[in-house]
Amino acid sequence: MDQVTSGEAAKAVQEMTAPYAAQDSHETAELLHALEEATRSKRKAGFSIKKTRFEVKNSPSQLSVDSWRMQDWDYKRPDLPTYARGLFTSRGKHGTPEIVVRGYDKFFNVNEVNETKWENIEYRTKGPYELTLKENGCIIFVSGLEDDTLLVCSKHSTGDRSDVDVSHASAGERRLEAQLQRIGRTKRDLARELRKRNVTAVAELCDDSFEEHILAYTPDKAGLYLHGMNLNLPHFATYPSSLVQQFADEWGFLKTGLTVMDDITTVRKFLEEVAETGAHEGRDVEGFVIRCRMSPKPGTHPYQDWFFKYKFEEPYLMYRQWRECTKALIAGKPPRYKKHAKITEEYMLYARKRLAADPRLGKLYNQNHGIIALREDFLAFKNLKGSDAAAFEELHGNDGTGGKTEVGKDVILVPIATIGCGKTTVGLGLVHLFDFGHVQNDNITGSKRPPRFTRAVLDQLRDHRAVVADRNNAQRHERKQIITDVKQQHMSARLVALNFVHDDIETIRRVTHERIFARGDNHQTIHAASEQGKVVGIMEGFINRFEPLDTDRAPDDGFDAVIDLDPTAGSRTNLETVVRELHRIYPSLVPEVPSAEDMDAAIKSAIEEYSPDLHHKIPDRSKKGGKEAQQPQAKKAKEKQLEYMAVDVPAKDVTALIEKTLRGAAPEQARFYRQLQQTRRVQARFHVTLMHRASAKEHPQLWERYVALSKGTSTGTEGEAKAVQTLGGAELGPCDVQLERLVCDDRVMALVARVLDENWTCVNRVAHVTVGTRDDGVKPRESNDLLARWLDEGAPSADSGIVDLGIEGRPVVRGTVRGVLSR
Ligand code: GTP
Ligand code: MG
Repeated sequence: MDQVTSGEAAKAVQEMTAPYAAQDSHETAELLHALEEATRSKRKAGFSIKKTRFEVKNSPSQLSVDSWRMQDWDYKRPDLPTYARGLFTSRGKHGTPEIVVRGYDKFFNVNEVNETKWENIEYRTKGPYELTLKENGCIIFVSGLEDDTLLVCSKHSTGDRSDVDVSHASAGERRLEAQLQRIGRTKRDLARELRKRNVTAVAELCDDSFEEHILAYTPDKAGLYLHGMNLNLPHFATYPSSLVQQFADEWGFLKTGLTVMDDITTVRKFLEEVAETGAHEGRDVEGFVIRCRMSPKPGTHPYQDWFFKYKFEEPYLMYRQWRECTKALIAGKPPRYKKHAKITEEYMLYARKRLAADPRLGKLYNQNHGIIALREDFLAFKNLKGSDAAAFEELHGNDGTGGKTEVGKDVILVPIATIGCGKTTVGLGLVHLFDFGHVQNDNITGSKRPPRFTRAVLDQLRDHRAVVADRNNAQRHERKQIITDVKQQHMSARLVALNFVHDDIETIRRVTHERIFARGDNHQTIHAASEQGKVVGIMEGFINRFEPLDTDRAPDDGFDAVIDLDPTAGSRTNLETVVRELHRIYPSLVPEVPSAEDMDAAIKSAIEEYSPDLHHKIPDRSKKGGKEAQQPQAKKAKEKQLEYMAVDVPAKDVTALIEKTLRGAAPEQARFYRQLQQTRRVQARFHVTLMHRASAKEHPQLWERYVALSKGTSTGTEGEAKAVQTLGGAELGPCDVQLERLVCDDRVMALVARVLDENWTCVNRVAHVTVGTRDDGVKPRESNDLLARWLDEGAPSADSGIVDLGIEGRPVVRGTVRGVLSR
């Protein structure tokens, strides 16, 4: 078959002299030596590298390959033995080392490193510049082994084991098989051809039926898009795009779209223009990869193949978000956004007004006219530059380099792990160090666990600055659930992934088995001592279902930051990594890193104290020491002070009543509520404040009684202590509340309420439920001012700006009294 392949096209490729170099086994041996050294001593090498061995499926000579993986940030070091991102090696017949898969050299964004500063790019590179759209599928490497086996892998894994990340590689392989069959060739043919050329073919697997990315790939567009052919050498050498495209044609790959430009000035101008509109040929693009040649010192040093990327960043991503939100507004749909929440809210207010004032604007906007003008007007109105507006809240990135931010609360830590990785131990360590909240999924029983778990997590944010959502979240759908539910209910919450990286499955298996069997039955659901076989099965199930984090696509792109952890390292190490990273990403949340002794102590007590208070299916808790486990929690609750006393009223009832009331009202009376809904400013939960500690001086006796009541239960029985722990305040009993009127201006909306239970006194002039405020600048307590004006003005006139609607039937709802404790 080999001869048959060298037809017309192949000859043309040969004539264009595809770059070729054979491997130099000494050079490869040196590289392997340096890599091996680094796996042995991270300290000595200065960077860490992970080696994973894979047995190659269907290899007649039972070959195995090693994958070498470095941490992304280490690629910025100047002294690496290779910069290949995606590197697999093997040993030939006589033990000769060889590179079998070679990815691109890690490339950087403009301005990310010194080499990619524009002035350096302009001076050191030469054309032709090949621009390709930054693809959003997953990368697949293809190459040929010594025994003519075709090796198909993803960035760090082959498809040959029942473990993580294999789905990409095996989906890629299936595609490849189909494509080769179509052109009447075999995997063996391709393996030989690639081996003859000493290259790795690099392709993007884009297929909606496999997984969805940002751009749509319908069946006719789905497949393997070939974008590179790299020589299997330690240094980076790659085919020019024309040869890549020819190879694609010849072997049935799809071709990657390509624009070639001759000089760098044109390239820069083009990129900056696309950034401005955020769209290229009518489609949203993430950015471009630019291939060219670069010399560190033109004139004296030779040019080599070199890539850089131009990723659209702020303020362009914010502009794109505004554009999408504006279109949603025009279509009457709820806008979706998660970044730049505050400034986007303000933009939306502004856009609403402009759109309302000029109906033509919306029509033109939908035809993509006036997009830039509207945002420029807004920026002028706010007297802000775009970059300042984008930095308004924070420099935000989900690649973990997120920059300094002002985030000091509402942070949710979401482990991505399997059983026994140390989620609970690290979580309890954080509880000890920073008084973070902690919710264990294993403590939630019964049906509909996911929403109840999310609710319990959000509840903890009332009293804690951050909370550990202790659940495995091993699969993407679980991550999707928590990310979506959280963002829906608490727009400004930040989700940080505690990513227990699952590379080295063998070691993970060993370490977690050891831990779990040492733990015995000391767990809510995993009873390793009494149900050994079953437990191994459960653990394997999690490992097999594990879907690694991929922040390049949904749902994991919803994380605000990622902290990588090593499940095989001890929990002490992982705790420290979490602490240091949180300190770096959110300095206001973790202003300083505690001492080593404090961290030692935190882990020690986390391991010692650890004893769940709940065993599913094992109701007898007496012998499990649940009491001891509860004590620290109860003690903590006692130290806290009462912030305010309130009656929680069911959200369902409240929103239903509002909707009903507004249905009978004029549209302009409903406008503010619709605005609150569209800007997601309607509170998720509602309460009537009975008394806040701010008025303790005015009503000392009542406050004393409320404090005593809240203490009385929070130090009480184990069950009540648990209520404190999960609800952020003890429930003190039922209380009926009557809802009478709906009142709002353009800042705040409240329901006038009446507390019907004489055991509970409300000290506010008008008892009320705050429904929502215009933006973060308007505090809920402004309801008091609104209602004072409302009361003083008697019947509100048109120019008072107050909307006042009676609630039909003045219904009574059953609420629950609760003391809310301070942090
Ligand atoms: P599941 O809740 O079962 O999914 O596990 P998990 O991820 O919450 O792990 P957990 O924190 O419960 O740790 C598992 C067991 O290992 C517990 O008995 C811990 O006390 C113990 N453990 C955790 N970290 C370490 C560690 O660094 N060293 C040792 N020796 N034991 C640890
Ligand atoms: Mg646990």
